[in-house]
Amino acid sequence: MHPTLNIAVKAARKAGDIILRYHNQIDLLTIENKATNDFVSEVDKAAEDAIINELKYAFPDHSILGEENGEILGDSRFQWIIDPLDGTTNYLHGFPQYSVSIALYVNNEATHAVVYDPFKEELFTASKGDGAYLNEQRIRVTNTNGFENTLIGTGFPFKVPHHLDAYLGMFKAVHPQVSGIRRAGSAALDLAYLAAGRLDGFWEIELNIWDIAAGALLVKEAGGYIGDFSGRDKFLETGNVVAGNEKVFKALLKTIHPHLTDDLQR
Ligand code: IPD
Ligand code: CA
Ligand code: CA
Repeated sequence: MHPTLNIAVKAARKAGDIILRYHNQIDLLTIENKATNDFVSEVDKAAEDAIINELKYAFPDHSILGEENGEILGDSRFQWIIDPLDGTTNYLHGFPQYSVSIALYVNNEATHAVVYDPFKEELFTASKGDGAYLNEQRIRVTNTNGFENTLIGTGFPFKVPHHLDAYLGMFKAVHPQVSGIRRAGSAALDLAYLAAGRLDGFWEIELNIWDIAAGALLVKEAGGYIGDFSGRDKFLETGNVVAGNEKVFKALLKTIHPHLTDDLQR
């Protein structure tokens, strides 16, 4: 494993330990409401602090963007992007589907990625050009030949409800063509599952950059495709994400397209 990835893994495991330490004592946590349906607890904050400490110790000059702390300025060529707990709503309900997501972008290019599920002890990693791995075993996207017999991941736009009608149009169009659609509640893990061949495709509206920065590299290194709603690479900026193996990626883009509002054409 690349030494830089190794540091990211160490940081993710420290965050995972904090997350697990409290997962049976959720009643004791102080929970704040950042915005409608957007919660944060001291576990999110402590996990992010642990990751930042680890990264700062190894790479004092690098810049870091964390969901809870915002931007820590440094050498802008090296940008870490962190979601210390992706799937907070699940976590706060004891629903065991959440993850730690850490990515390093070098000159705006995804270079190393970790998505870690501490509950299931599943560690998804990738370095650019070196493939994607689950607990050190190589993973690949599926090779289904279109929508038939596929399982598709998605996220509901519960933080951006003005997109609900457009989303439901997309859902109605995808639903009859596939075997199933799952809303599991951690976008980072959804992309990791796609990389591991557990899902064949994925789409979601207006995610944040820290939800997808690591998962995007996992998908690409597993042989998959990821893009915005036009199939181009502006997904980190818009947060609008479509991903899949090659055929499902194309099928999703085509199916979603008629339901895009002006807002979502970006
Ligand atoms: C959320 C999860 C969820 C997605 C939300 C995200 P958070 O992240 O990734 O799957 O649907 O839009 O905000 O808030 O739990 O870190
Ligand atoms: Ca998140
Ligand atoms: Ca989060």
